[in-house]
Amino acid sequence: MEFFIDTGDVNEIKEAVKWGLIDGVTTNPSLIAKSGRKQADVIKEISEIVDGPISAEVISTDVDGMLAEASELAKIHDNIVIKLPLTEAGISVCKKLSDKGIKTNVTLCFSPNQALLAAKNGATYISPFIGRLDDIGHDGMALIEEIRAIYDNYGFSTQILAASVRHGTHVRDAAMVGADVATMPYKVIQQLFKHPLTDIGLEKFLADHKNSQ
Ligand code: G3P
Repeated sequence: MEFFIDTGDVNEIKEAVKWGLIDGVTTNPSLIAKSGRKQADVIKEISEIVDGPISAEVISTDVDGMLAEASELAKIHDNIVIKLPLTEAGISVCKKLSDKGIKTNVTLCFSPNQALLAAKNGATYISPFIGRLDDIGHDGMALIEEIRAIYDNYGFSTQILAASVRHGTHVRDAAMVGADVATMPYKVIQQLFKHPLTDIGLEKFLADHKNSQ
């Protein structure tokens, strides 16, 4: 499973890459707004830190606007992946960009049929938002399982990118059902290291070592 970090905060990315676990980065307009910086500046800086796919989202809602934004974003670095909303315009643009060999991440996916549309039009990634489904009493992980089954039935190469990941249990379950990638906030990746028995065990080993000197 690949690990992407879901953030617009360059300092978090600089810290996370030290672990050697980060394969790529995802951003969205809310995360960029939180950084207080321009998207192009943030994305450029990220591309200097991480050598892997970096998703940058378009703001336009019409085909021409999305295409114009995509062409500007793609100029920033070869690793840029164009993030498109799962709308009629977004899915049309996905096909046009895929045909040109430009990588895409179709976002705001909440149903298996939406994921099917993205795969048919050659999306590189589909982003099912599992946490937001859980928030409204649905089962986010069931969506990942359904998409996995559909993609495997037809041999689609679109990668399932588990998004809106809120905690370690989401990561474990997404890995169990075969998501290709999990994109996680910094604090969720940090949680993956934690187990109280690791801390207790290490403390005991160090104390025993000290007492034996
Ligand atoms: O970047 C898309 C997704 O990961 C957003 O997550 O926590 O805002 O639902 P969240």
